[in-house]
Amino acid sequence: MLNFTYYNPTRIVFGRDTIGQLSSLVPADARVLVLYGGASAEKTGTLAEVRSALSRHTFMEFGGIEPNPHVETLLQAVNKVREHRLDFLLAVGGGSVIDGGKFIAAAACHDGDALEILRTRGAAVTQALPLGAVLTLAATGSEMNCSGVVTHVASQSKLPFRHPLLFPRFSILDPQKTYTVPERQVANGVVDAFVHVAEQYLTVADAALAQERFAEGLMQSLIELGPQVQDKPRDYDVRANLMWVATMALNGVVGAGVTHDWSTHMIGHELTVLYGIDHARTLALVLPASLMLRRAGKRAKLLQYAERVWQLREGDEEARIEQAIELTRDFFERMGLPTRLSAYGLGDEAIDAVVAQLQAHGMTQLGERGEVVPALVRQILQAAR
Ligand code: NZQ
Ligand code: ZN
Repeated sequence: MLNFTYYNPTRIVFGRDTIGQLSSLVPADARVLVLYGGASAEKTGTLAEVRSALSRHTFMEFGGIEPNPHVETLLQAVNKVREHRLDFLLAVGGGSVIDGGKFIAAAACHDGDALEILRTRGAAVTQALPLGAVLTLAATGSEMNCSGVVTHVASQSKLPFRHPLLFPRFSILDPQKTYTVPERQVANGVVDAFVHVAEQYLTVADAALAQERFAEGLMQSLIELGPQVQDKPRDYDVRANLMWVATMALNGVVGAGVTHDWSTHMIGHELTVLYGIDHARTLALVLPASLMLRRAGKRAKLLQYAERVWQLREGDEEARIEQAIELTRDFFERMGLPTRLSAYGLGDEAIDAVVAQLQAHGMTQLGERGEVVPALVRQILQAAR
């Protein structure tokens, strides 16, 4: 097991009809900016619930935060914070709104060019406004971590950032709020959470028993919950379990003291910013091909994954590894996420463009050993055609 420091200050308020607790979770004297995305927050009645919970607070609203949130939009919210001396942010939505809130929280306290926050992947953050979240989509785990991903449209960059000051103070997780999430986004959430676990588990044998069994349990849960949430979209227990599994997939517990990969995510971000493909759908394209091409370096964990997650114990080891990777691909396809670039009409020109973007973003030695260099990225994407 590797050395680690585990720190997570986010208070989670979980369960039915919990949005009302905002009245006591948000400091009485706070001057709040409520952040949200497109039409769903209003249409689903969630914003109305938030407004009534904040009826004794001073608050303003800022909507229009895009999926894959745009820095250019977020900087308008920073102007609003400064103009009205607001001092508390409340993100109401999925990962895009919460990540946007984290960027606003940091940028509002940053002297100089806010892009410094992105260029330094968050290291430039010295101060941040307090942030709370009301989660409406189970996927990213942003509600309980200090990371975010935002898109600077002008430079066509979708970049990650993180800083301990960016943990939400609290996040309210009411599974009922996810009932209205479109099936496509529900499936995205299942696969995004699955790949988060894979990025922290399918690497090398770190002798981290608790983290590994926890990771295996989360993946097995997602394999069960994925089809269930499609069959029974209004089943509270299915939604509650999916919501908590997605949160636990990326709140630091599974990833503590183990070797991380994250190359699938970095390649995926470029596919999103270049071709507008949903985040999770880019991961479904990359992961199976990446595991196949890199299975030698991942052998021990792929065998453990095959046995503990897919119950493959008999027969030739190589065959078990390949079968586990194919079962993973089948799982993504059954959730409705294609695993081939051709499904998006993408071919060699896209491969060149993604490799060029990664090089432009200095991402030329990705993966747990830095072995995912541009040539290997090209091979992975060619294998994903
Ligand atoms: O725009 P509106 O109308 O609000 O609709 C949203 C959005 O279009 C809709 N939606 C959300 N909650 C809903 C709902 N529709 C009906 N009912 C509800 N209750 O869903 C659409 C997608 O929302 P979005 O927030 O973009 O999805 P998700 O939560 O998957 O977030 C994706 C973003 O998170 C980043 C991704 O890069 C992407 O930008 N990630 C954040 C991470 C983190 N902070 O740790 C890690 C992840 O790997 C990921 O990179
Ligand atoms: Zn993700």
